[in-house]
Amino acid sequence: MNECVLPRPDDWHLHLRDGADMASVVGYSARQFGRALVMPNLKPPVVSVQMALAYRSRILAALGPASASFKPYMTLYLTDQTSADEVRAAAQSEDILAFKLYPAGATTNSESGVTDLRRCEAALAEMEKQGVVLCVHGEVTDPQVDVFDREAFFIDRVLIPLRQRFPGLRVVFEHITTSQAADYVRQAQEPIGATITPQHLLFNRNSLFQGGLRPHYYCLPVLKRESHRLALLEAATSGSPRFFLGTDSAPHARNTKEMDCGCAGCFSAPDALALYAQAFESVGRLDRLAGFASHHGAAFYGLESSSETIRLVRSAQTIAESLPFGNGGQTIVPLAAGQRLDWALAN
Ligand code: NCD
Ligand code: ZN
Repeated sequence: MNECVLPRPDDWHLHLRDGADMASVVGYSARQFGRALVMPNLKPPVVSVQMALAYRSRILAALGPASASFKPYMTLYLTDQTSADEVRAAAQSEDILAFKLYPAGATTNSESGVTDLRRCEAALAEMEKQGVVLCVHGEVTDPQVDVFDREAFFIDRVLIPLRQRFPGLRVVFEHITTSQAADYVRQAQEPIGATITPQHLLFNRNSLFQGGLRPHYYCLPVLKRESHRLALLEAATSGSPRFFLGTDSAPHARNTKEMDCGCAGCFSAPDALALYAQAFESVGRLDRLAGFASHHGAAFYGLESSSETIRLVRSAQTIAESLPFGNGGQTIVPLAAGQRLDWALAN
């Protein structure tokens, strides 16, 4: 197979940041994807409909003419203070699709996150009633729990009890990284879905220590051992509509990752689709890429798949070592910098 044609795909988990940083990265996503679900962990976080719509306008303005073929959908940041009124207002806006649950302290810019889900009962009940999706960063923050086990513990301690209380709540388990999460999503009661990133399909935790410490492979939830990578690859390529594409592309300037306390996040946007193609081809399943990348996520969010198509062609390329970031002369290192890719997007 030397080409792969699919409906224009969507990225259901994307960090764009704001201002000049956002303007320098958003074009990479718009070139490949028709729609994206934009995460709200800005500083300060996007906690209201008004803030989300203003942020969306800034994204469209930064894109200029490219905004004609790229639709950003927005998320609101769930906090202990989120009201049922805010949920109703979000449900009224067709540009807002979800709330995002960050357990406080779990990841980048999660300081305003939820300290105890019991404080969010009214908001969660309204989400369930209105059919508003809850996107979940699924890791416990208990310092007693080993960092590699935080996702598995989250399923038992938080996710199962949450879904027992709100069985109709539409949940997306974001960026799953373990066989436990893949198994849970596969067998759980509807409505549930999960996104999977390119790094968790292509790399295991050895990549963090390959010949030295590798900060550009560090994200949260952290890469896991090989058996988990294989379980995720199996889930993504299984054809199950519960698994769909969400890059979790999370740009951080090079100097903020290469330091004594470096930021979590892999910047996969520039070559995201080719990276996924690489992963799917590694198990002979390019035929399942369209479901994962173009159909399953849209269906979960109640949207039509794209009527446009894009074409990937077999063509060797090398991922850039470094790219410009923002307007202050900073740079950013993409995921798998310097590595070879077999696929390229045809113009
Ligand atoms: C994300 C970021 O940098 O905003 N980082 C990451 O490692 N994935 C936050 C997140 O999605 O956890
Ligand atoms: Zn994320």
